[in-house]
Amino acid sequence: MTQHAADYSVVLEPPARLHKDASVPKPNLSSMEEYKSMYEQSIRDPTTFWGNMAREMIHWQKPFETVKQGSIENADAAWFTDGLISPCYNLVDRHAIERPNDIALIYEADELNEGRYITYRQLLADVSQFAGALAALGVTKGDRVAIYMPMIPETVIAMLAVIRLGAIHSIIFAGFSAESVTDRINDSTCKLIITCDESHRGGKRIPLKSVINRAFPNCPSLTNVLVFQRSPEASTAMEEGRDIWWHDIVPKFPKYYPPAVVNPEHPLFLLYTSGSTGKPKGVVHTTGGYLLGAAATCKYIFDLHPTDRMGCAGDVGWITGHTYIVYGPLMIGSATLIFEGTPAYPDYSRYWSIVERHKLTQWYIAPTAIRLLQRAGDDYVKYDRSSLRVLGSVGEPIAPESFMWYYNVVGQGRCAVADTYWQTETGSHIVSSMGPVTPMKPGSATLPFFGIDAVIIDPISGQIIEGNGVEGVLAVRNSWPSAARTVWKGHDRFIDTYLKPYPGVYFTGDGAYRDKDGYIWIRGRVDDVVNISGHRLSTAEIEAALLSHDSVAESAVVGIPDELTGQAVNAFILLKPNVVANADLEKQLIMSVRSTIGPFAAPRKLIFSDLPKTRSGKIMRRILRKILAGETDQIGDVSTLAEPKVVEHIIHAVHHAHEKNA
Ligand code: WTA
Repeated sequence: MTQHAADYSVVLEPPARLHKDASVPKPNLSSMEEYKSMYEQSIRDPTTFWGNMAREMIHWQKPFETVKQGSIENADAAWFTDGLISPCYNLVDRHAIERPNDIALIYEADELNEGRYITYRQLLADVSQFAGALAALGVTKGDRVAIYMPMIPETVIAMLAVIRLGAIHSIIFAGFSAESVTDRINDSTCKLIITCDESHRGGKRIPLKSVINRAFPNCPSLTNVLVFQRSPEASTAMEEGRDIWWHDIVPKFPKYYPPAVVNPEHPLFLLYTSGSTGKPKGVVHTTGGYLLGAAATCKYIFDLHPTDRMGCAGDVGWITGHTYIVYGPLMIGSATLIFEGTPAYPDYSRYWSIVERHKLTQWYIAPTAIRLLQRAGDDYVKYDRSSLRVLGSVGEPIAPESFMWYYNVVGQGRCAVADTYWQTETGSHIVSSMGPVTPMKPGSATLPFFGIDAVIIDPISGQIIEGNGVEGVLAVRNSWPSAARTVWKGHDRFIDTYLKPYPGVYFTGDGAYRDKDGYIWIRGRVDDVVNISGHRLSTAEIEAALLSHDSVAESAVVGIPDELTGQAVNAFILLKPNVVANADLEKQLIMSVRSTIGPFAAPRKLIFSDLPKTRSGKIMRRILRKILAGETDQIGDVSTLAEPKVVEHIIHAVHHAHEKNA
């Protein structure tokens, strides 16, 4: 049997002060025994477990009697279906009634000292006014509303106003190009788009409205563009009858608008994500189950209390921002950070200055940011961080040495570190340590969350491998409340992607190892998905963007390990006959990816060569990865290639590209 690094790893107990120190709130979980007994019940009797949890954490407009219906294998699981729920009431109103002056949003603007606090009372008024404006523009229950915004409070206000009407938001990350925006809006036929004149990030101004101007003519379902003015000094052209300034319409509406009450299975939002095929999927999350998962994971994994101040430096354009900036913390009723800027502006100590000034109790970032800060040097890790109790990591595997740096240098050995594994589709964490109680192993996401029957599957036989010390692909054997229910207008795609690969279980797309103690070590994607700085992209999507250029005959994109960004995109390109590669063409190809998807998807390196194809025409990316890694002696069997000689050509082309970049 092969030895795994996992078997030799250190085990860190969560700091005792989390349980003993009078200055910290009593943890929501008292011990590992409590976790184990709750976990055991959640698997054995999910109806009782989730029924109790849902009654405790959610205010029901009409109590449910049935907890769970349907099953994972039939892709028809549904939760709390005979109850009624008001999502916005749960997130805003109930806290505004009980604790009106408590802080809901902590806005940290890109410019130091330009942010502000928004209380729950104020949030209720702001969300109500905006909901009134949206209703006046014709938005009603079930309509889709697109949001293309930076990290400012108005973005969260817009999300909450949309759901206050029972409408469905579809947030499009503000780094996506006009073309990507168009595809997403058209797929779900959004009625309206909410945007901003420009965003402020890292001291730079990034135009947003101009992207929407380019998208709008190709989006027949859109009626209006609602524009928040972030930079009053910038002159933004508005199109009469189509574009509406936020400040012209919103103040006209009353500070209370009644919140919609919906069936718990009513969609709360759509979020597009990349899979192994080129077309992004609109993942559908429902109201009751999703909010329950968001609240429960915040409570037990981050040990979030209503008196806490959650700091997640992510962006609401991705699932992390949805669940752990907005929905989870607001379900708990804690304060939550909205950070507009970057970790490096004005310098690498920005995060820690935020922690000190706002006395944040949790801190949640991606390993790519941890590596960046680790490289910048420990001197930047200053300011008082003693308010912190739980540090979180998300989005990609965290290397043990980054974990230890996070634990020792950032957390000063006083905080638990939770490596949280999950996906857009899972809605909330599915594997993670429970901050205050789980012994940590640096590099392992540790143990499944309540209600997650995580299994390892042998990819060859397709069978579940029970027991410990086993490696395979990670799947979930049961349904859980916050799981995505479907893909927008694509239930067949949902089934094909997640349930067909291994019938009867939800397939994550990630490889994983379960060690002798039952701890799960995520190995990374086993499909054609790349993860760049925590941004999930499909290789097929990037290939399609390259192919849209006239000179390209074929292309193959692979992700290769990168010290800073986790993975980097390398693109192999076969040019059409009589086309010669040159610097100008390289620029055009990079531009075509930037403009089709967005700047963050741009390939790091282009390699002009033939492609290794099987006789049936399938590109063998494995060979490309081996050549890029310099492991030409491990290429293995090439006899299935239609043209085994191409391997030599590719090795030569990769050498040439390396030399050019050196
Ligand atoms: C990866 C992000 C290792 C994984 C929340 C997954 C992780 C994909 C971790 C989902 C982690 C996320 N350790 N890998 N802690 N968290 N991933 O949908 O490959 O943007 O399938 O959701 O990110 O990316 P998504």
